[in-house]
Amino acid sequence: MAEILEPTDYNITRCKEHLECSEVVTVPTETVYGLAANALDEVAVKKIFEIKKRPLIDPLIVHVYSDDQTHLYAELNTLAKKLIKDYWPGPLTLVLKKKSKIPNLVTAGLNSVAIRSPQHPTFRKLLKALPFPLAAPSANPFGYISPTQAMHVQDSLGENIRFILDGGYSKLGIESTIIDVQDENKPTILRPGPITRNELEKKFNRTFFSHNETSGNSAIPAPGLLDNHYSPKKPLILLEDKDLQDLLSKNEHSVMDNIAIILQKRPEKLKAENLFWLSENGDLKEISKNLYHTLRQMDESKYSELYIQGIKMVNLGVAIMDRIRKAAN
Ligand code: TXA
Ligand code: MG
Repeated sequence: MAEILEPTDYNITRCKEHLECSEVVTVPTETVYGLAANALDEVAVKKIFEIKKRPLIDPLIVHVYSDDQTHLYAELNTLAKKLIKDYWPGPLTLVLKKKSKIPNLVTAGLNSVAIRSPQHPTFRKLLKALPFPLAAPSANPFGYISPTQAMHVQDSLGENIRFILDGGYSKLGIESTIIDVQDENKPTILRPGPITRNELEKKFNRTFFSHNETSGNSAIPAPGLLDNHYSPKKPLILLEDKDLQDLLSKNEHSVMDNIAIILQKRPEKLKAENLFWLSENGDLKEISKNLYHTLRQMDESKYSELYIQGIKMVNLGVAIMDRIRKAAN
């Protein structure tokens, strides 16, 4: 089992030293926990792929302490600089033209690199102490639900790692928004996330394309857009509103012992042991924060089939539905 470390200065130094020896460390971020290694060291980066059982064709995100370092690893254009100024540190990953310092292993041989500066204070302390950036995918076995707490990492990868730096509950709970900004005239959201298209378009007064609108061009899709991803082991079925109402009234009649029903908010009248909810009142931030934790809990529960209510695809709802769809595939 891995050692779960309180985020003290002493423990951050231990993680730093471990990383300097080409090892991996699990780090907390504001989105999900990451499995980190020196992004400039191929021996270290290879370990990430092995531990996650991640195919080498799936590139990693490089995490930097501050925007000053970005130009060492990527070519910046005007739009990228604006996005960085507004959103870093934070849940925004930019895909930019890669510079040669970043090993090809990190980017799966692409000419581009995904890069972000995270917000979580513990992760930032660690990055600040290091003379190199950290490559870090989400700290889950490939294809399984991303972790939002130290114990999630312990449960699914604990046997293969030494240290998990504990940073509490990830406050956003879903992965960063990824935007390909290599072509300034055609910024493309490869993965919807906490920073929404709506917000970006309002702020910049221009279009941000979504991945399926531009998939005809040469930009390669983020393999994170693979349909089957973030999935629990148990069958998870996404319900349209009408089917949900049918299921709920059937369940009201006689509770179905083998299924769990996950709602977006606390039901007003219905009461049954197999009903769960992602938020009190339907607040999208709360739903996003609780989604992966709830899916993991349900995966460990006695229920053999899971049903989940869909939500409206507006604002943060777009990213939440993206994850639910993938989990439910
Ligand atoms: O919030 C996050 O982004 C978390 C935390 C740990 O920072 N990280 C994360 O990494 O979600 P990962 O590896 O689970 O997802 C990164 C996604 C993958 O789908 C990968 O294919 C895509 O980013 N990606 C990485 N580099 C890319 C590139 N150069 N071009 C297109 N997609 C890229
Ligand atoms: Mg991932």
